[in-house]
Amino acid sequence: MLSNFDDIILTRRTCRVFTHEIPTKEDILSILEAGLYAPYAALALEDNQKLRQFVVIDGRSEKMLIIRELVKKQTAKLEKIIPIINFFSPGKISEKFKDRVKQDLLGKAPYYIFVIEPNGFPPASKQSISHCLQNMWLKATEIGLGFRLISVFETMNKNKNLLSILSLGKGSYSINCCAIGYSAYKPEKSKRPSLEDMILWVE
Ligand SMILES: Cc1cc2nc3c(=O)[nH]c(=O)nc-3n(C[C@H](O)[C@H](O)[C@H](O)COP(=O)(O)O)c2cc1C
Repeated sequence: MLSNFDDIILTRRTCRVFTHEIPTKEDILSILEAGLYAPYAALALEDNQKLRQFVVIDGRSEKMLIIRELVKKQTAKLEKIIPIINFFSPGKISEKFKDRVKQDLLGKAPYYIFVIEPNGFPPASKQSISHCLQNMWLKATEIGLGFRLISVFETMNKNKNLLSILSLGKGSYSINCCAIGYSAYKPEKSKRPSLEDMILWVE
């Protein structure tokens, strides 16, 4: 358990390989609570009681098998679009992205947590979900759990099969997802360019 905020910030990494150990429900709840208390775009919502929803899916469940198939179909679609985007905007799509869509985007994790927010006006639900996921990520880091964003689901917010598995009724939603579990390796601390090279102080 980390207690110093700067340590949490510097220790947070993307975890892409998890052990089979299942985190406790209490740990998952503490991560969700951190997400709940992240900011949300109050002005964009009619009902502030319905700001966001969490769907926690067991990585070994039947539903997760179905979701894996839906993601395969989605990545096949993305692969088809890449040459078209390349044709009209050469160089827009990085080689890393082209490689990534060919890989298993989900990996294997004990839990997949979907964060869902209604789309309102002005459109802010995607940003709001990002704030939520960041809180969840930092909480997971604090309690020693690994975390991975699975952002392909951002592109699947109109996928009827996915919406049905997530028990979402009629409406327009933004969706994102993360995988959570114990990291199978000890990642190094993050490397970033020098902060000084990235700042412009205007006085
Ligand atoms: C908007 C956004 C989407 C991301 N989507 C994914 C993803 O789908 N899968 C994944 O493994 N990592 C994803 N990442 C994680 C980044 O690849 C990662 O944060 C970056 O490589 C820096 O590594 P670090 O998180 O270990 O510091 C995403 C990060 C951001 C900010």
